[in-house]
Amino acid sequence: GKVAVVLGGTSGEREVSLMSGSGVYNALIEEGVDAVKFDPKEESLERLAEMKPDRVFMILHGKGGEDGIFQGVLEYMKLPYTGSGVLSSAISIDKNMTKLVWASAGVPVPRGMILSNRADCALALKNLGSNLVIKPNKEGSSIGLYKLKNADLAAVEDAYSKAAETGMQVLTEEFVEGRELTVGVLDKGEGRGLEAMPIIEIKAPKGDYDFEHKYYSDETVYVCPAEISSEKTKEIQDAVVKAANLVRASGWSRIDVMLREDGSFALLEINTAPGMTPHSLVPLAARTEGISYGELVKLVAAGASL
Ligand code: DAL
Ligand code: MG
Repeated sequence: GKVAVVLGGTSGEREVSLMSGSGVYNALIEEGVDAVKFDPKEESLERLAEMKPDRVFMILHGKGGEDGIFQGVLEYMKLPYTGSGVLSSAISIDKNMTKLVWASAGVPVPRGMILSNRADCALALKNLGSNLVIKPNKEGSSIGLYKLKNADLAAVEDAYSKAAETGMQVLTEEFVEGRELTVGVLDKGEGRGLEAMPIIEIKAPKGDYDFEHKYYSDETVYVCPAEISSEKTKEIQDAVVKAANLVRASGWSRIDVMLREDGSFALLEINTAPGMTPHSLVPLAARTEGISYGELVKLVAAGASL
């Protein structure tokens, strides 16, 4: 049947979604699928209805698309869609809510707190120390994210003010020193449920895996499967699958993890509509287990449901 690839949108990650969506659309066409593109920023919902798709491939990133809002529209239109449902998307876009759900079941997360106002900055320094990450609570792709080392109050207040310009809640966390990992989960159908993909380690120059290094630079090195003992690999993969199921994710997702030198680790967040750009990580993990980009797209599309 016909697949509508929903891409673009209005979030800060619009540009990334357009790249992801083009990749998905081109792959579907190459696989001989009757695919169409739909950008909710530029086209009306009437137009989507007129396309009469049998299913929707959701590849909007960020607010308005990865947060349950568009998923709710599709539920109302009775159009099966890929990835997570309304509740899962709404929890997962909210990094603080996600951590509350995970911590409630013993999944390790970084210590952190919401900064409600400038006065909270002093509290964060006192409770979390002076190595901090400050980020808008519902943003992606490192947009508006600040990493502070040995920060003083002025530096924390400055980062807080900048992150608050997004209009979102601001989250601060202890800076977890260690190796930067990311783990995809994929449901290959036939009742298998979510399974972990090979772990990727990200080695960005100077450890700064920012927006530029995520999508435009070729300096970042990705190691997949990551060079981690098989016992630790399994431990991390099991925690990731548990965490994805805890937030009721479905179809596919990607969870970012920090691995400390002492072997302990912390889960940072889940992306329920992970990037599918040429630089993105779920396609890389898939390739490592022998699944091409086109096959990955078909597997995700096959899981579309209401
Ligand atoms: N938020 C971006 C798209 C990602 O996690 O891949
Ligand atoms: Mg993210």
